[in-house]
Amino acid sequence: MNINFSIEEAVGKRVSVRNYTSQPIEDEKRTLLTEFLKGLENPFNQKVNFHFFDMDQSSEDQKLGTYGVIQKAKHFLGASIRPVPRALEALGYEMETVMLYLAHLDIGTCWLGGTFDRKGFVQALHVGENEILPAITPIGYAQSSRHLQEVLMRTFVQAHKRLEWSKLFFYNDFQTGLAKEQANNYTFALEMVRLAPSASNKQPWRILLKDGNVHFYEYKTPKYSDAFGYDIQRIDMGIAAAHFEHSVKELGMIGKFVWDVDPKVELPQHMEYVFSWIPLV
Ligand SMILES: Cc1cc2nc3c(=O)[nH]c(=O)nc-3n(C[C@H](O)[C@H](O)[C@H](O)COP(=O)(O)O)c2cc1C
Repeated sequence: MNINFSIEEAVGKRVSVRNYTSQPIEDEKRTLLTEFLKGLENPFNQKVNFHFFDMDQSSEDQKLGTYGVIQKAKHFLGASIRPVPRALEALGYEMETVMLYLAHLDIGTCWLGGTFDRKGFVQALHVGENEILPAITPIGYAQSSRHLQEVLMRTFVQAHKRLEWSKLFFYNDFQTGLAKEQANNYTFALEMVRLAPSASNKQPWRILLKDGNVHFYEYKTPKYSDAFGYDIQRIDMGIAAAHFEHSVKELGMIGKFVWDVDPKVELPQHMEYVFSWIPLV
């Protein structure tokens, strides 16, 4: 798919918005969003289904909730998948691409993977029987200030912080950190990955440059996904893939994602190989 907005600008503008104004999304922007959703693709060969929901058009709206986390949002977008390999990565990739597009349109969003009434939203969004609803996002205009619970949440997960390059990116093996100056053509794309959102801001993505390929690993947070029945940090991996691929494409670099070229390097505990980006020259 072709991205027709600046990734750097959109990544810079995107921030989780949990406090909304009552201003609805204009019809013109809604149409743009619908068109954008139609053109969405992901490199993981899995289907992601998107569902819109307007709070005030439903008799169900009183029951649907986000435990006070999201305030005053009128519109929601949910993404459902069949629970098969690489579907969570596909969902992360496509939904983050939508959120970057919305940031470009000055519309606020917030990934919700945990703090929402999943059963209620599954019904209201008419999610298919064989599907799961791993995440939704409110869509709307941000209030000028954050609500109290939002401020506390952001402080708790240190939402404004990101790990240093040396903790995230490696060269040849996991003992050797990759300095910004060594990353050459990849400096921009890796920096865009570093700034991505992740569940509880855990930033589980780790990237190893080896033999000209870019290998993506998940540094799993022990027990974090136990309550979900699936690995929620795989969504974060898909988000990282989106930030990476949109960035390299913007620079005119060509390549593809594959998941069968594990370089079999020695791994630190809790580290898992997920996929690789191979440049095609
Ligand atoms: C997969 C995923 C699930 C998330 N789930 C929630 C959630 O349930 N509730 C919430 O308030 N924030 C949730 N977040 C938002 C993160 O806490 C947020 O992205 C992170 O703290 C970084 O802050 P920022 O988005 O403002 O940059 C989620 C983010 C991701 C990527």
